[in-house]
Amino acid sequence: MTRVAIVTGGTRGIGEAISLALRDTGVTVAANYAGNDERAHAFTNRTGIAAFKWDVADFDACQEGVNAVETALGPIDIVINNAGITRDGTLLKMTYHMWKEVIDTNLGGCFNMAKATFPGMRERKWGRIVNIGSINGQAGQYGQVNYAAAKSGIHGFTKALAQEGAKVGVTVNAIAPGYIDTDMVAAVPADVLEKIVAKIPVGRLGQAHEIARGVAFLCSEDGGFITGSTLSINGGQHMY
Ligand code: CAA
Repeated sequence: MTRVAIVTGGTRGIGEAISLALRDTGVTVAANYAGNDERAHAFTNRTGIAAFKWDVADFDACQEGVNAVETALGPIDIVINNAGITRDGTLLKMTYHMWKEVIDTNLGGCFNMAKATFPGMRERKWGRIVNIGSINGQAGQYGQVNYAAAKSGIHGFTKALAQEGAKVGVTVNAIAPGYIDTDMVAAVPADVLEKIVAKIPVGRLGQAHEIARGVAFLCSEDGGFITGSTLSINGGQHMY
């Protein structure tokens, strides 16, 4: 049976690697994106993976986006809540808008997407939800009260929904990436990033495909007994 997956933020960075990894396991993938149409079209031309535009922070848009994917590709079996943003700054400099934008996108997006897809998975008695958390949700990070709170919330959300999904064949897990070589991490000031990398025992940034392989495994048939777990992939930077 061919499964259908939505990867939010699935056209670039870790999301792009996840879209490709799932596709390579035979899953039909819809890559959601919120921003640049031109980049998304280039992604589709390059990979053959369909891209669908909506903002995961918008509850109604998630319902409509999921409907559009289901009309095009069929019922959704797998959701990867990967879409995420940073608006870093110390609390003194952080505005309410910076707080709210990150909470609404990174954590609110998980709720909105689960509301749109969990009922169908439950009815069909099979589903996989993987939420992308972060080392900074586990350990905290200077200048990220918004991001750390949202990512920490994702880890709690995962464990709660896992309990609701367990008896109806839906697994819900999280992956907590460390510092991965993406545009998001490249935006960290070079001197700050240098100090962070110096604290990674493996001695380098992670690669997006190293996160994607973990996601693909959690979504496989063999992953059926794994639920409510958090898989840390961080080069040993934080052992949780
Ligand atoms: N611990 C303690 N003190 C720190 C510190 C730290 N980690 N980092 C900075 N400080 C101190 C500085 O030494 C400085 O002290 P003084 O005023 O006494 O000199 C003070 O805090 C202010 O520092 P800055 O001048 O750097 O403040 P800023 O407002 O310009 O920048 C910042 C602050 C935006 C947080 C910047 O330090 C930064 O970008 N840090 C990186 C944050 C980060 O790791 N983001 C991760 C993004 S990637 C991601 O999130 C993906 C994922 O899941 C891992």
